[in-house]
Amino acid sequence: MKIGVLGTGMVGQTIGKKLCALGHEVRMGSRQAGNEKAVAWARSVGDKASEGTFADAAAFGELLWNCTSGHGAIPALQSAGPDSLRGKVLVDVSNPLDFSKGPPPSLFVSNTDSLGEQIQRAFAELRVVKTLNTVNCDVMVDASRVAGGEHTMFVCGNDAAAKAQVTEILRGWFGWRDVLDLGDITNARGTEAFLLLWIRLWGALKTGDFNIRVVR
Ligand SMILES: NC(=O)c1ccc[n+]([C@@H]2O[C@H](COP(=O)([O-])OP(=O)(O)OC[C@H]3O[C@@H](n4cnc5c(N)ncnc54)[C@H](OP(=O)(O)O)[C@@H]3O)[C@@H](O)[C@H]2O)c1
Repeated sequence: MKIGVLGTGMVGQTIGKKLCALGHEVRMGSRQAGNEKAVAWARSVGDKASEGTFADAAAFGELLWNCTSGHGAIPALQSAGPDSLRGKVLVDVSNPLDFSKGPPPSLFVSNTDSLGEQIQRAFAELRVVKTLNTVNCDVMVDASRVAGGEHTMFVCGNDAAAKAQVTEILRGWFGWRDVLDLGDITNARGTEAFLLLWIRLWGALKTGDFNIRVVR
């Protein structure tokens, strides 16, 4: 599969590397083609990896991953243009973190709205599925890193077929066994707000290798 990964940070790099290892072709997008981190990433990953602008990555991908900073998500997708987004599934792993007042970060949208909803409203042509934003990027791509994979990943979004496709990806590619469909994209309010607790857990545990399990 041809996959566009928007974002050159540790999340885009980790997801992109894993997707290439699974045999997919990945183009990483950035504000400017030739981004130093993207070039180094593509070189280290090999011939299935390439890089370019956000627009290049979006045009390339049959499936898209949003791995930009929270503030960068909408500008990145705007620069991609509607023709490259139409009908595509966007796996949104971003969080609306606001670092402007120093650590710990707060959320720049919350309670009655979410970044996932803002993205879906701004780009009606996309089929947004919010997931993976509640764990560290190493755990995202390998659920077995924590507790033998016995913990929970959430998905939400308005398009049932898109959620089913992403759930298969989570299970088959990344090893998630407990995938919990919360419902429509408004549920991103809950999973994004979980970051306020995630940050405190990270501070207490001194590692990102943890997650929560929903026991029924
Ligand atoms: N770190 C984790 O393990 C983790 C876990 C869960 C969720 N997340 C979420 O995943 C996302 C990516 O995290 P990260 O740490 O890998 O990277 P990041 O530093 O949060 O974001 C880097 C990307 O955002 C783009 N960006 C920044 N400002 C922008 C703007 N104004 N307009 C357009 N694009 C802009 C950058 O573009 P350039 O390439 O042009 O510089 C770069 O590609 C974040 O939303 C984060 O909250 C992270």
